[in-house]
Amino acid sequence: MSKPAKRIAISGAAGQIAYSLLFRIANGDLLGKDQPVILQLLDLPQAQAAVKGVVMELEDCAFELLQDIIITDDPKIAFKDIDYALLVGARPRSKGMERKDLLSANAEIFTVQGRALNEMASRNVKILVVGNPANTNAYIAMKSAPDLPQKNFTSMMRLDHNRALAQLAAQSKQPIAEIEKVIVWGNHSPTMYPDFRFATVKGASLQQMLNDEAWNRTVFIPTVAQRGTAVIEARGLSSAASAANAAIDHMRDWALGSNGRWVTMGIPSNGAYGIPEGLLYGFPVTTANGDYTVVSDLEIDTFSRERMDLALQELLEEQNGVKHLLG
Ligand code: NAD
Ligand code: LMR
Repeated sequence: MSKPAKRIAISGAAGQIAYSLLFRIANGDLLGKDQPVILQLLDLPQAQAAVKGVVMELEDCAFELLQDIIITDDPKIAFKDIDYALLVGARPRSKGMERKDLLSANAEIFTVQGRALNEMASRNVKILVVGNPANTNAYIAMKSAPDLPQKNFTSMMRLDHNRALAQLAAQSKQPIAEIEKVIVWGNHSPTMYPDFRFATVKGASLQQMLNDEAWNRTVFIPTVAQRGTAVIEARGLSSAASAANAAIDHMRDWALGSNGRWVTMGIPSNGAYGIPEGLLYGFPVTTANGDYTVVSDLEIDTFSRERMDLALQELLEEQNGVKHLLG
């Protein structure tokens, strides 16, 4: 007998990230090939026709795991009884805009959606915010949902983590699958701090293997931190398939476990590494049994502290900018 279906809400269902995401979820890439799913799709009223088109395509794939699809412009309907929420819907950044500029445009969305989650979702719901500025949007949603555990609110730093892995693999000429213990601290913004001081390849130190601090500071960190901008410049649109892939990686590892591997998640800080409690910040975690645990007791040197504080300052400013919306 097949398992009972899991309910997964996706906002921004007519958008370009969703166009990659939905088909992979329905194919079992998120929760496994034995887990039926019900998709609860949210988008704005003017996007409903486009969502219907996407649904026609989902139907035409004849996915065996896809049990039902709900389409709505009402967050309360979209979030009813859900086990997972992937909050993608937001206004994307265009050329010349920084993520901060999006803050007020998107803050309103995440207040409303946080309240709807609070009222309608399963008490164990796992929430990933993808829409930018992702960390602060997740913070707003979390603060708007006082009856849900804070730890259920996360933001996407996994694309940054994957980008760091790809750059390290290319530079070291080592297979991606062999590289472990990479971290991206902080904010999903150019202040992020990709950190491979603890990274290993088949147990050996990657930092010693590369032995090039100038490359780290002048090439690696800026390349990873500016990758979103580079994709926008090249494509004229923000990253979509790679963002959808990272969202799947994040949720799959959270739900099914990372098997001891370190992954980066934006999570409400528990006070570790001097990051104020409750702030949504990128940390190295391991995941097991549907929970995540921060990798503890890593040494933070002077350069790392400076970089981590830069992201912290930016997040505190973002938080300050939305204070009035949170009552
Ligand atoms: P898109 O413009 O193609 O799609 C966004 C969709 O969201 C649209 O269909 C729009 O109608 C919908 N939407 C807007 N407001 C909504 C609301 N209140 N409720 C429900 N739906 C709403 O954008 P995209 O390329 O899919 O990107 C979506 C978001 O993801 C953007 O904010 C983008 O900056 C962000 N992003 C984040 C990362 C990350 O790593 N965290 C990576 C890439 C993109
Ligand atoms: C990305 O990192 O690709 C996205 O967050 C897009 C952006 O706005 O930079």
